[in-house]
Amino acid sequence: MQIADRLSVISESITLAVQAQANALKKQGVDVIGFGAGEPDFDTPIPIKEAAIEALRAGKTKYEPTAGTLEARTAIADKLRRYNALEYPPDQIIISVGGKHSLYLALMATLNPGDEVIIPAPYWVSYPEMVKLAGGVPVFVRGDPSNDFKITPQQLADALTPATRMFIINSPSNPGGHTYHPQELLALAEVIQKHPHITVCSDEIYERLLFNGQRSCSWGAINWDLWKDRTITCNCLSKTYAMTGWRIGYTAGPKPLIAAMNKLQSQMTSNITSFCMPAIVNALSDPANEKAVENMRLAFEGRGEHMWRRLNAINGITCVRPSGAFYCFASVRGLLNRPLGAAAVVCHDAVEFSRQLLAQVHVAVVPGNDFGFDDHVRLSYATSKSQIDKGLDRIQAFVNGEAPRRSLESPS
Ligand SMILES: Cc1ncc(COP(=O)(O)O)c(C=O)c1O
Repeated sequence: MQIADRLSVISESITLAVQAQANALKKQGVDVIGFGAGEPDFDTPIPIKEAAIEALRAGKTKYEPTAGTLEARTAIADKLRRYNALEYPPDQIIISVGGKHSLYLALMATLNPGDEVIIPAPYWVSYPEMVKLAGGVPVFVRGDPSNDFKITPQQLADALTPATRMFIINSPSNPGGHTYHPQELLALAEVIQKHPHITVCSDEIYERLLFNGQRSCSWGAINWDLWKDRTITCNCLSKTYAMTGWRIGYTAGPKPLIAAMNKLQSQMTSNITSFCMPAIVNALSDPANEKAVENMRLAFEGRGEHMWRRLNAINGITCVRPSGAFYCFASVRGLLNRPLGAAAVVCHDAVEFSRQLLAQVHVAVVPGNDFGFDDHVRLSYATSKSQIDKGLDRIQAFVNGEAPRRSLESPS
């Protein structure tokens, strides 16, 4: 059977592939420590679940408006005003099947062939692939670990060409775990504000997972009057409310953009699952959920700090201190091209290192290659502290060529 040429320009999501490999090993009875998952290990708060169950019981099982019910979009508009200082009315909001679908539709609705999209590296694996599918050209700007992976205004200015049409920013970041402060966003904005044909796509899905008392800043809030017609604000319920499986994302933006996305979505998926709409209203407006969100955030903050310290204590690994999301993005450069572990394996890049780690000591991490750094690995700390310790013991043992302190077979 013929497979369309357009698929030859993209590859499968590495994060999902690693997860699948680890799951396959687990199914064989192997005690795998998974640092691959990009999802909270907590359950969705009960009131949100109850809202969906209630909606099902009430017969909310039919088609809904493509962009989502007015109630759900109003709840999102209220949240954007209250939390983000963004003034989007409900008709400038569209709800889609997860953050991924939101971003994909936004790019499909705005990019023409050959349009350049500036993506700071390290980046979420799907941005370049989505840009390519939309006919655009990803242009990477490499953030330096010494600046917590954040790009500088000068780097952004240097990347601009007459073909630049979009800048994607993700703060807090997957995989870097870094967060841009409002002043840093302002400095980046000053570089591109004089180029009115450049749109900013702001992926704010980790906005609530911030540490050290920081508060997130939406791109549009830097200067609403200046940016309201040039900003695409993407978000989802997946990470904040531990709702990855529900597949709820949303985009807020100028009316023509939302109309274009609506047109596209109406021919693809129509509305998201009908009985999830009341769950959105509940998630964003029931104060009971705030406590659950804060408890998760606190747990991530403690685990992130712990994992970061332990990683830096391993000879050959260095890691930038995470300030948000739930990932450590660690350099394994010091471990490449030299014999490692009891089997004295030599790894030349992060893919080989990750493969060996899984094979030798059954720890799943995601190689940084598809995030733009082939000498880094991403470790998710969306898992318990005991699992973090067990996994890091094994990594340490692998690196030092010792037997792990806790047996590979000990229950998790
Ligand atoms: C930076 C970033 N954006 C978007 C998404 C997509 O989120 P969703 O699971 O809602 O599709 C993810 C998921 O991991 C992500 O890390």
